[in-house]
Amino acid sequence: MENNLFLDAAFSKPTQRPPVWMMRQAGRFMPEYWEIKNKYSFLEMCKTPEIAADVTMLPVDLLGIDAAILFSDILVTGEAMGGDLSFTQGVGPKFANPVRTAADIDRLETNVLDRLQYVADAIKVIQQRLNGSIPLIGFAGAPFTVMSYLIEGGSSKDFKLTKLFIHNQPALAHRLLSKIATVTTAYLNMQIEAGVNAIQLFDSWALALSWNDYRDFSHQYNQQILAGLNRENVPLISFCKGSSVFAPLMAEAKPDVISIDWNADLKNIKQSLPAGIAVQGNLDPFILYAEKPVIKKYILDLFERMRGEQGFIFNLGHGIMPDIPFSNVKYAIEVVKDFKY
Ligand code: CP3
Repeated sequence: MENNLFLDAAFSKPTQRPPVWMMRQAGRFMPEYWEIKNKYSFLEMCKTPEIAADVTMLPVDLLGIDAAILFSDILVTGEAMGGDLSFTQGVGPKFANPVRTAADIDRLETNVLDRLQYVADAIKVIQQRLNGSIPLIGFAGAPFTVMSYLIEGGSSKDFKLTKLFIHNQPALAHRLLSKIATVTTAYLNMQIEAGVNAIQLFDSWALALSWNDYRDFSHQYNQQILAGLNRENVPLISFCKGSSVFAPLMAEAKPDVISIDWNADLKNIKQSLPAGIAVQGNLDPFILYAEKPVIKKYILDLFERMRGEQGFIFNLGHGIMPDIPFSNVKYAIEVVKDFKY
């Protein structure tokens, strides 16, 4: 790899500066994304390896980040299992056949890798394009977060149906989570086999859960997935909103990196974790709406705070919003790349 910053930091080795990539770095804040998006639906983009590769490469070519992330979505596992998935502008993801009964759960299939072959194909095209320059991050949704979309039938503000389901019908919830975990493990091993250099598990909505419910209905399955991956030389990043609270439990699953939301002091979290677990984060993405001197100050303050810490990947606490100015994202990355410890 020409640029080893990301992999070194992920394995808690020293780096001259923190590596940088940003969640949702290939997306709607980029005019070039819209040129492609105006011609195809989001799922067509994900399922056509050449197009998925084109979109993956946009931030590589236009922003100069230190790691690329596969262009896809966390909900493709739910679709492969039998979910009738669509993405509509302004509405977001929808499953037209929500999963709410034992019969719905029994209908979901788990032997579905052939339906996700397009992802392996995309990874191969992307690796040809990257040509050893920077690492490629693969990813999947964590079972709890994917389950929430399957039950709610789409995005939710309060996860009311999902929480009712785990509280009133815990045995059914565990049956559903187990099925998703089985698919997710096989799917991530397929991505590793196809050539990704790192894996991130997205448990975006874990924040909705209490500590005990997180442990029983989320963490347990994430741990099972991480234990089932062929992870030699492939670092695993565990992400959730709520990681400033759940980090001690997340660490028990033995990821290489924990991605931290913007609520926590990153150094305090880092020092509370077992040695050898790196942290990723944790700029509030809303800082990228601010004026450039403000953006610079927040980034340099974070880097100063993390001085002397090995195992730090710079990222946002959550993804880039679609209306953040492209020039601000580009500027933030320049600030990082000009920095030296
Ligand atoms: O980070 C990247 O650039 C890689 C690609 C990526 C997408 N989604 C592309 C996408 C990744 C890693 C994801 C993960 C994802 N998808 C998560 C976890 C990360 C997070 O933000 O917490 C979640 C919860 C989803 C589910 C999802 N997909 C939602 C809620 C939406 C609608 C979002 C919105 O703001 O409308 C999507 C659609 C989606 N996924 C888009 C992109 C670029 C927008 C699609 C479009 O152009 O219409």
